[in-house]
Amino acid sequence: MGLIIKMLGSAAGGGFPQANCNCRNCADVRAGKPGLSPRTQSSVAVSADGARWLLLNASPDIRQQIAATPQLAPRPGDPPRSSPIVGVALTNGDVDHVAGLLSLREGLRFTLYASERVLAALQDNPIFNVLSAASVPRVPLRLGQSVEAASGLVVEGYAVPGKVALYLEEDGPGFGTREGDSIGLCIREPVSGASFHYIPGCAGLDAQLARRLAGARLVLFDGTLYTDGEMIAQGLSDKTGTRMGHVAISGPQGSMAALAPLGVARRIYVHLNNSNPVLREGSPERAEVERAGWEVAWDGMEIRL
Ligand code: MLT
Ligand code: MN
Ligand code: ZN
Repeated sequence: MGLIIKMLGSAAGGGFPQANCNCRNCADVRAGKPGLSPRTQSSVAVSADGARWLLLNASPDIRQQIAATPQLAPRPGDPPRSSPIVGVALTNGDVDHVAGLLSLREGLRFTLYASERVLAALQDNPIFNVLSAASVPRVPLRLGQSVEAASGLVVEGYAVPGKVALYLEEDGPGFGTREGDSIGLCIREPVSGASFHYIPGCAGLDAQLARRLAGARLVLFDGTLYTDGEMIAQGLSDKTGTRMGHVAISGPQGSMAALAPLGVARRIYVHLNNSNPVLREGSPERAEVERAGWEVAWDGMEIRL
């Protein structure tokens, strides 16, 4: 036993290229220039036995991601309606992490795991009633407690610094963000003890999160932006990473510096926004993260622990 981890989608919301984006990265990847690879939106699949799979987030690109991943297709001899996907765990309520649930509605039976805050947001949005309670039981991830998922995996959700989903923002400090709006997931295979952390959205590393990640074998971490102001600098948006709840990779407060002393064996950036220069092989920024020991996730990447 152990863990098989498949990177289904390594891009942030919008994907790479993004439909309405003509930034240099998007234009070049669209033109098929060497050194850039298209990426779908943020999701991971994980399995202990290779037969039952847990999805971490359900992206709007889920249909394409399943089609590209043979392990997620019904096997010969399986019942006429069946799927190796037995669970979905969510890190937040962002559209790029929940919209794919609507594509899993065709009578698929699976268990949905999310924080109570995110489950409440789904409950308040009647379109998610297409996932009936009988077919898709919803199990709260109580922060800091472990849940044994049907897939033979143990799932722990814990609060991380972050921001409430864009469509739930309120006026006032923190835009109404509360604990549990953004969580990290620790996935463990109890027989071998292999585990890893999945944190595609994180506003910064506080002492608690640093303690939790110290010594980990593998961390998949928020790599949305290289610099806090890159979307403004490229004329794409008026928002900084800080405003969006994403800590930048670079800089003294960035994730590259913050994780450097934590002794994490393998560190991989996920949830990469299309503006991010690390998407460009051979760029100075890509060289910088690789020099610091980081990898940049790509769709189809497989990791075994
Ligand atoms: C984010 O990661 O900041 C969100 O996906 C933004 C969004 O929902 O558009
Ligand atoms: Mn996102
Ligand atoms: Zn772009």
